[in-house]
Amino acid sequence: MKIFLDTADLNEIRRANEAGLIDGITTNPSLLAKVAGDRSPRDIFLDICREVDGPVSAEVVAIDAEGMVSEGRKLADIHENIVVKVPLTENGLRACRTLRANEIRVNVTLCFSAVQALLAAKAGASYISPFVGRLDDVGHDGIEIVSEIREVYDEYELETEILAASLRHPKHVLESALVGADCATLPPGVLYKLLRHPLTDAGLESFLADWKALGKGL
Ligand code: E4P
Repeated sequence: MKIFLDTADLNEIRRANEAGLIDGITTNPSLLAKVAGDRSPRDIFLDICREVDGPVSAEVVAIDAEGMVSEGRKLADIHENIVVKVPLTENGLRACRTLRANEIRVNVTLCFSAVQALLAAKAGASYISPFVGRLDDVGHDGIEIVSEIREVYDEYELETEILAASLRHPKHVLESALVGADCATLPPGVLYKLLRHPLTDAGLESFLADWKALGKGL
């Protein structure tokens, strides 16, 4: 399963990328707003694309199809790594078809059901982003939706990649992998939680203490 980092924070992106932990980036307008300051979204996307050799999702903010296509073209022109993100609305799917016809990759976002995901795949989406945590927040089972999407896509041999999103903790990541998500996008905090285990820390501490007691160098 590919791991993407869900942030527009360049320091976090650099750290994870240099450690070889990530395959790409997802952003959304809220994540951009958090880090922008006086920088333009274009410059932020360009810096991210220069840093990471993988897909970088950049979201449109128009809500009509024509506006989404025009913004999508501008975003795609920034760098070849850009994947245009459109919302799962009727206009979003119209825009998805047009962008795909222009060979621009599209990530259809704000997906909350397997039937929505079916429509996105038929519209030519390269990625579908089911929002696991936000479904859990309203009393649904987010992972169940990811699993249903997997079943539908496999049944009809649809090539859209399932990008599990809105993941809040390592268990979401494990479950996404177990039900066959192609990618998972994680906030930095969740990514580093995947690395840690108290038994790893305790084991390392005792190995180092024993080595020190030995009192010899290598
Ligand atoms: C996905 O692409 C979104 O940016 C993100 O995963 C949303 O997560 P949230 O529900 O934690 O805001």
